[in-house]
Amino acid sequence: METLVEMMKKVLADTFAMYLKSHNYHWNVEGPNFPQYHEFFGNLYEELYGAVDPIAEQIRALDSYAPGSFGRFQELTDIQDETNVPMGTDMARKLLSDNQIVLNTLNMAFKLAEQFDKQGLMDFLAGRIDVHNKHAWMLRSISK
Ligand SMILES: [Fe+2]
Repeated sequence: METLVEMMKKVLADTFAMYLKSHNYHWNVEGPNFPQYHEFFGNLYEELYGAVDPIAEQIRALDSYAPGSFGRFQELTDIQDETNVPMGTDMARKLLSDNQIVLNTLNMAFKLAEQFDKQGLMDFLAGRIDVHNKHAWMLRSISK
């Protein structure tokens, strides 16, 4: 059960890291396609931000505390912190690879939830996997 809890904490940290990076890009993107990028990253960060609270509450439902600090998130996630301002297409490429990190973690969490017969959590994670597959499609299309 501890393995599932730890993986859910990684789901939270990955999602928060991807949320923060898309919000950063929403603020700072420049160039002739500014309106499209600004809006796309805006929709992306809003979707991810909306997922953060339900993920943390799933961790509480597993009777563990939810991590909620920059330090803990950085320990838990493999998503690299962004301190530069890349071009719009590079922003999309970076988020595409970050999205793959989130998907891998979600898939591992799903398998663990299955192992512990947590059907509600499996359903929740399947929903997140679905949404991130859609993010992958859009980010892939923008990256080309
Ligand atoms: Fe905004």
